[in-house]
Amino acid sequence: MKGIILAGGRGERLFPITRAISKQLLPVYDKPMVFYPLCSLMRCGIREILVITRPDETARFRELLADGAQWGLEISYGTQDRPRGIAEAPIIAADFIGESRFALALGDNIFFGADFDRCLDTAISGHPGATVFLKDVGQPERYGVMSYDDRGLAERIVEKPAHPPSSHAVTGLYIYDTDAVGIAQSLAPSARGEIEITDVNNAFLSQGRLGAAVLPASVSWMDMGTPQGLLEASRAVAAEQEKLGVRIGVPEQVALRNKWIDAEQVLRIAEGYGENDYGRYLHDLVRGG
Ligand code: TTP
Repeated sequence: MKGIILAGGRGERLFPITRAISKQLLPVYDKPMVFYPLCSLMRCGIREILVITRPDETARFRELLADGAQWGLEISYGTQDRPRGIAEAPIIAADFIGESRFALALGDNIFFGADFDRCLDTAISGHPGATVFLKDVGQPERYGVMSYDDRGLAERIVEKPAHPPSSHAVTGLYIYDTDAVGIAQSLAPSARGEIEITDVNNAFLSQGRLGAAVLPASVSWMDMGTPQGLLEASRAVAAEQEKLGVRIGVPEQVALRNKWIDAEQVLRIAEGYGENDYGRYLHDLVRGG
């Protein structure tokens, strides 16, 4: 399976913070935002990743993530010249995807919690064509929302409904079969002028090929695209790390656990950080501190 991180967009809700820098490069507590979706893909077992950015920001992402070899990954870069919608990601990535299944992670979404790995494993093994992850939220009207029929079966995803049919928001991690590319290519823009990932998901749903996995309360999900979301995510990462004594969103940690890199490589990376906090954490990871 391959992976895509969609890290372009306008970031308008964060203006003026994002006037001069991409949202996904902003700090979320002690790491750049893009480390979190990167780790979500790595936790799916994905090593080949395409990062889609605004054309003027590719160099900065490359400076941060390089070619991924340091983490046992192959990272390449694509660009989106204008934010035409999330469903443009598979179109831009068509050559990269080839005949593979792929996961699409929004660059400003974070997931964490001990049960997340289990949810991913279950979803990937039972994947019927497309899989979305749903989360019970307080303000579903801000997201795509799943509606259910009388029998409780998934019926349709409604984008930002004024009257949400349920409290199940569609989160920013999707798994697709290759034919999602063709479906995205056939879409017309919505009333807001974007090609909508909701339309791709509804196409799979109407074919009976959409899996909808509801994330349990033990898995947290946040959209970091607003000032409040950014602050809450920073606070949540700090609190979770403090509670567990384990960090979230550390690519070296996931790569080591997946045996994609060895302890020596982690120490080499740690050396590059000198005596700073992140470097010490990497050092302790392999030295059992
Ligand atoms: P959004 O938060 O929906 O859009 P945005 O980042 O442009 O923010 P705003 O609404 O405040 O202007 O995007 C979710 C993620 O997808 C985020 O990482 C940006 C990315 N994205 C793109 O890369 N291209 C696009 O065309 C869109 C719509 C989003």
